[in-house]
Amino acid sequence: MAGGGLHVDGVRHYEGNVTTFVLITCFVAAMGGLLFGYDLGITGGVTSMEPFLIKFFPGVHKQMKDKSESKNQYCKFDNELLTLFTSSLYLAALVASFFASTTTRMLGRKASMLIGGLFFLVGSLLNGFAMNIAMLIIGRMFLGIGVGFCNQSVPVYLSEVAPAKIRGALNIGFQMMITIGILVANLINYGTSKHENGWRISLGIAAVPAILLCIGSLCVVETPNSLIERGKYEKAKKMLQKIRGTDKIDEEYQDLIDASEMAKNVEHPWKNITRPKYRPQLTFCIFIPAFQQLTGINVIMFYAPVLFQILGFGNDASLMSAVITGVVNVVATLVSIFTVDKFGRRVLLLEGGVQMFICQVIVGTMIGLRFGLNGQGGFSKVEADILLFFICAYVAAFAWSWGPLGWLVPSEICSLEIRPAGQAINVAINMLFTFAIAQVFLTMLCHLKFGLFFFFAGFVVIMTIFIALLLPETKNVPIEEMNILWTSHWFWNKIVPNDIDSKSKDNKSVL
Ligand code: BGC
Repeated sequence: MAGGGLHVDGVRHYEGNVTTFVLITCFVAAMGGLLFGYDLGITGGVTSMEPFLIKFFPGVHKQMKDKSESKNQYCKFDNELLTLFTSSLYLAALVASFFASTTTRMLGRKASMLIGGLFFLVGSLLNGFAMNIAMLIIGRMFLGIGVGFCNQSVPVYLSEVAPAKIRGALNIGFQMMITIGILVANLINYGTSKHENGWRISLGIAAVPAILLCIGSLCVVETPNSLIERGKYEKAKKMLQKIRGTDKIDEEYQDLIDASEMAKNVEHPWKNITRPKYRPQLTFCIFIPAFQQLTGINVIMFYAPVLFQILGFGNDASLMSAVITGVVNVVATLVSIFTVDKFGRRVLLLEGGVQMFICQVIVGTMIGLRFGLNGQGGFSKVEADILLFFICAYVAAFAWSWGPLGWLVPSEICSLEIRPAGQAINVAINMLFTFAIAQVFLTMLCHLKFGLFFFFAGFVVIMTIFIALLLPETKNVPIEEMNILWTSHWFWNKIVPNDIDSKSKDNKSVL
């Protein structure tokens, strides 16, 4: 992948000429992000639809209807196959992302995106036409493979072909599209829930963006970086001229060749990252994605409609509440985009942590007071509104902190030498924890009851202290100067060998 500093002077005057090209690029990236978000957000609503439950999970449906005193509401949806319907996607994505990185390197970004799009398409069709649980789960696994391929290739593609000036915006756009995808899924669930076969529409309609992604990935050109990586130098040069709309690309072309050489010299990114010098990066690439999931956000993203039903909201109100949290998620992500370079990462992560903790404790306490340990009870209209308010405040806090920064921070602290390994670890840990939480949430709710909210709140305390103590501010620090942060940090300077020249002492941007 080309680093930010490589596209020097030459790029600036190409911009006027790349409009159509950039538009197609944006479009393909948007479809990739949208599909990921859509698949994230769709299952919660579908899982709460009665015709869906009657067809595939009649036992769960019976429990759901059972209002008898002996029945614990917390356990209404506790069924491992039902959670596998949501979680299997992440397991497949985890496995696929290892293959996807090789495909992206050997066959190019275009091929990876097309493969991703085709898996998305087959997955949506399998789900939309599902006759049994096996078709549902296999369909979700196909979608997961699509996610694995697209999450690997789309961001790389974007950073390689976008003119320098809009590169940042395009990458954040990918994040935004994920949240928009979740919202679209919530809205579609709300619209289809009244129909007998509404769940088929909800699941199957993902085929439309999947087809658009396939067509789009056939229309985009291969990136010059990828062609150089595969030794096609002449073709790469022509492609760069075409993309930039000018023949004057020699400087940039040379930069790409140099970058490719440099990347080839990075023979052992996996070995590199275990060196003491990279302990901070390794630590953050493991803990940040794990903590991002341990905020408990996907309890809301995956299971909000189910959770709201358990809490006694009607079917419509549950789906509507999910739409509301979806809107809050999109808007708060925008807040992050506009503040992250101004206030910095630490401020957002610390504020987000405190706000999430307060909200979780209030939500847990409210549920505890009304439902107690035996899961019998309900909320008045006003109480339900207050509860929804605090859930929204929690989602907002996540969406301007750990949501986008959970991806940004690990990627910006890794230098080229360790970037492939760092990114792979980050994605894999994220998918692993997403899978685990999606799989065990309903069972945990059944056993921990309202205490589940305190469980996640506890992790939020730990991760906030972790950030406060260990993460230096990375705002405005060029990637190549990141190492200075560690050698002048109160903790990391004991771990990282101090082999940086004295100019590091001038850097004041620590804690
Ligand atoms: C997380 C997802 C989550 C989403 C919510 C992302 O940053 O990785 O797990 O569902 O944010 O918007």
